[in-house]
Amino acid sequence: MKEIEANKKAWALVAQDHYEFFRRRLKEEHSLLNSIVTRELGDLSDKSLIHLQCNTGADTVSLARLGAEVTGVDLVPANIHYARKLAQESGAPDARFIESDVLTLMEVHHEKYDIVFTSEGALGWLPDLRQWGRTIRHLLKEDGFLYIFDSHPCQLAFSEEKMRSNVLEIAYPYFGHEPDRDTHIGGYASESREGENFFWMHTISDIINSLIAAGLCVEFFNEYDVLFDDLGGMDKMEKGLYGYPHFTGRLPFTFSLKATVRR
Ligand SMILES: C[S@@+](CC[C@H](N)C(=O)[O-])C[C@H]1O[C@@H](n2cnc3c(N)ncnc32)[C@H](O)[C@@H]1O
Repeated sequence: MKEIEANKKAWALVAQDHYEFFRRRLKEEHSLLNSIVTRELGDLSDKSLIHLQCNTGADTVSLARLGAEVTGVDLVPANIHYARKLAQESGAPDARFIESDVLTLMEVHHEKYDIVFTSEGALGWLPDLRQWGRTIRHLLKEDGFLYIFDSHPCQLAFSEEKMRSNVLEIAYPYFGHEPDRDTHIGGYASESREGENFFWMHTISDIINSLIAAGLCVEFFNEYDVLFDDLGGMDKMEKGLYGYPHFTGRLPFTFSLKATVRR
């Protein structure tokens, strides 16, 4: 698919910068996970965990440092190269990494996990959530669970620029099916680079129904008025969480979801 190939090339442009940025941070901090994710995930001791769309492995290393036996998956060869290097250099030598499109992963990987984990800018890069749901079911042990913490689709519909000045203008249709084409990639852990990329909008019902259709059962769904990145002019609320004072308590910026295998 031409959009996936474009995304693969685009993410490779920022791989080295991401590795260097996160390597510095992991020298100073034990875990880069925010307090919501850490609390909701619970005890990870000796749990097998697969991290989908792991980028250069910074959160994968954090999850390993919290006790999980981790496997990271990403589409981009350079991300996997730097993730392996980061894990070796950051005290997580047992972390494993697989280069694969999440949507074709079940053709090549058949291990089962206690936890499937995905977070912070993941779902919008996937064109087909039904296949994503089936992949998660394929990866889960019968008593395992999926945990997601990602952008709230409602917030993704609004112009980022306008939100800064307390204006909600719909820039991306909430029910849109065509991917949004952007000409720059990155920017949260590196300078943004010129590179065509495509991002899909998924509604809350798309996300939940894809999991239900795959045989999963939602255990909780939470919404938060803070985001994992600074969209520009946001206040830092706490480690890894940002918000606009004018939208605090008024607009969801992220959601989390836990799902188990339906019996
Ligand atoms: C915003 S980053 C996610 C970062 C994440 N918060 C983390 O754990 O570091 C999005 C990642 O998704 C990956 N990606 C995009 N499309 C993918 C696909 N179809 N299959 C696997 N990974 C994909 C990109 O290579 C990129 O590393």
